[in-house]
Amino acid sequence: MFVPKQINRETERLFTKLERVGWGKSDCTLIAPLTLEINLLKRKKNAIILAHSYQTPDIMYGVADFLGDSYALSMRARETKANTIVFSSVHFMAETAKILNPKKTVLVPAVAGCSLAESITTYDVRGLKKAYPNAGVVCYINTTANVKAECDAVCTSGNALKIIERMPQKEIIFLPDEFMAKNLQPLTRKKLIGWKGRCIVHEEFSPKTVKEIRKEYPNAKILAHSECSPAVIHEADMMGSTKQMLDYVDASKNEEFMLVTECGLSDRVRVEKPGKKIVGSCALCPYMKKIMLKDILECLKSPRPEQIITLPNDIIKKAKKSLDLMIKLSK
Ligand code: 13P
Ligand code: SF4
Repeated sequence: MFVPKQINRETERLFTKLERVGWGKSDCTLIAPLTLEINLLKRKKNAIILAHSYQTPDIMYGVADFLGDSYALSMRARETKANTIVFSSVHFMAETAKILNPKKTVLVPAVAGCSLAESITTYDVRGLKKAYPNAGVVCYINTTANVKAECDAVCTSGNALKIIERMPQKEIIFLPDEFMAKNLQPLTRKKLIGWKGRCIVHEEFSPKTVKEIRKEYPNAKILAHSECSPAVIHEADMMGSTKQMLDYVDASKNEEFMLVTECGLSDRVRVEKPGKKIVGSCALCPYMKKIMLKDILECLKSPRPEQIITLPNDIIKKAKKSLDLMIKLSK
């Protein structure tokens, strides 16, 4: 379908980015027909590809139109004029795009869950509301559309504290991330009532590993995602969302950083910030890494039913109220 000249040019384009994360030219040549076809189809179908920073580098730098954290991606989905949104990320993020821009076709290349989103049901939320009738209910964006529909406001890792502080109630049911609630509690005078959800990726980091890295690289700044345990956060220089971590790297005069989060974010620093060096280890999210270029191509060509996000109208309406309150309060 593509002539050698096109393949060579695409190989070069991919290689300038991907060599920084260890890809060879031959690897780039192998994926070049795929990225060319995806980018062609994207234009033909007036589609936009939104990718979370935990996606693989071939997706992030080969085909994505926009990279970001869950908040920035949601805002892009809400504002886009494209006909179709291909959401290269886990299912709850694609659902959020559908809620915020329901007239668009929202496609998810692979059906990928999230341990946090799977940790709580609407039944559980109703139980919490009954047990704490005076509390406001703030749910992390890493929840299903049905759970969002049961809450008063949504939050992301980047604006969680702001949302909690700006809710009218003194008591807040903060769900479902147990660690995030514990990490936020010392920063607010409000009483947080948590849930028992955990991110299977961030719960794997231990304070011992962080201490070892600190010893080995005494000049490195250690940044941890707020889904990490309080013991890990205690050892870190900064806690935040993926965007806040990238902003910190940008603003810092330091050269070395450990990013205590999913490996995709370290890949972004390696590709986008050549003056900065990543030290230590990272972790892979099995859900995020389920998505591959071939899935993106498939859903753009002819989506299977499970690749098309559909939600009942009443759920869209209720969940949108919670998302709209987040947008209002986070301004
Ligand atoms: P961010 O909004 O910080 O990108 O977090 C999303 C997520 O799933 C972290 O595990
Ligand atoms: Fe869910 Fe954790 Fe993966 Fe984020 S990193 S999508 S919270 S399992």
